[in-house]
Amino acid sequence: MAQVREGFQSRLGFVLAAAGAAVGLGNIWGFPTQAANHGGGAFLLVYFIVIFLLALPALYTELYLGHQAQANPVKALKQAWQEKQPKVGASAGYIGLAGAIVMLSFYSIVAGWMLAHSLEPVARLVGWDEASAFLSGDSTLRNFIFTPLMLMLTAGIILQGVKSGIETWSRRLMPVLLMLLVALIAYMGTLEGAAAGFKAYLVPDFSKIGDPELIIAAMGQAFFSLSLGVGCMMIYGSYLKPNENLPKLTFSVAMLDTGVAFLAGLLIIPALFIAQNNGVEVFQNGKLVGEGRLIFAILPELFATMGEIGLFVGLTFFILMSIASLTSTISSTEIPVSFLVENHGFKRGQATWLVTFVLLISSGAIILNFDWLFGLVIQILTHYQLPLMGLFYFITVGWVWRRGNQLALECSGKMYWFAQYVRFVCPVLMTAVFANVAFFK
Ligand code: ALA
Repeated sequence: MAQVREGFQSRLGFVLAAAGAAVGLGNIWGFPTQAANHGGGAFLLVYFIVIFLLALPALYTELYLGHQAQANPVKALKQAWQEKQPKVGASAGYIGLAGAIVMLSFYSIVAGWMLAHSLEPVARLVGWDEASAFLSGDSTLRNFIFTPLMLMLTAGIILQGVKSGIETWSRRLMPVLLMLLVALIAYMGTLEGAAAGFKAYLVPDFSKIGDPELIIAAMGQAFFSLSLGVGCMMIYGSYLKPNENLPKLTFSVAMLDTGVAFLAGLLIIPALFIAQNNGVEVFQNGKLVGEGRLIFAILPELFATMGEIGLFVGLTFFILMSIASLTSTISSTEIPVSFLVENHGFKRGQATWLVTFVLLISSGAIILNFDWLFGLVIQILTHYQLPLMGLFYFITVGWVWRRGNQLALECSGKMYWFAQYVRFVCPVLMTAVFANVAFFK
């Protein structure tokens, strides 16, 4: 007898889970870092254009593929390519699956740092100085403790299933995340130096707008932020009831994610200027000092200059980051788990532990080769795999998949124009961005 497939119970549950998948380190760390390094408001403007012109249609396309197939990405893409080359579809599904494993492998390391930094203020408060130094210091041992911890927390939620695990926890964690973010912005906004930060963030420097580096960075950031290209959204779309209004839900998810990225910029960029005002060195030649170290170098130094209150601000900030990470790791873990359950007959528990074991090995490999491997996998995944998979989805929905593809069958109305947009404009735009980088870099 065919197994009854679990799914989201409510629309709100879906929106919060999908927004939880999307909102993560990419929004709160990646987006403000990119904005600070690419002309503040100029990056913001290009990012919004990319979201509306490309990432939003890509999000719809990925959700739609899963929603129509009601199956995991390997099955869904194989079905969509059934009439042409099922192997091409299935291979793309496997590439996405591999991308999800790679993404989780580096993401869980960073998420582990967030957990460690959340505990650090507590250690300081109770006077455990050695523990505090260990939790805030960079070490392989700390990575080998906190990365597995993050993977176990993720597994704990995945084991409970789609409704009781993913949906329930997203409904609990996402409102807390939003409240913490708004509270931190409100507090930081009152500090000296914040006004210069708001200005740098919101006023575009138009001379930077045509920079190919900026455009590819904005595109990679938008695709990473919406968790596109590895199958997260396809699997969440597949758990949505067949009769739901997908365009409306897609829009809500994209707006929540973009809204949080925007808010994170309102927190981080002014924080940089407050730190500068307090004597911390933040920029050198217009670039952030120690680019990737923003969260763990500049912000803790800023919190330290705030006295007692800095302890609580730091604690709140890193709890926020840990929650944002967790709602993203659960979505990526669900992809291989659902694949093992649906394609290979595994029980959910077995599949979860097998995937967690693979992730322990692969994240361990990155920890042991951190210096050269960490940045490299992030670069390949965000700049190339995610947008290229987006291009593949556009081609699949626009050109390949016919039978059962409602979008391709539409002959009038809004969705007809959207289908034409996905068919012609999106692939051309994406190719143009890549060509621009190849030729003008
Ligand atoms: N979309 C997730 C993030 O932005 C992966 O962090």
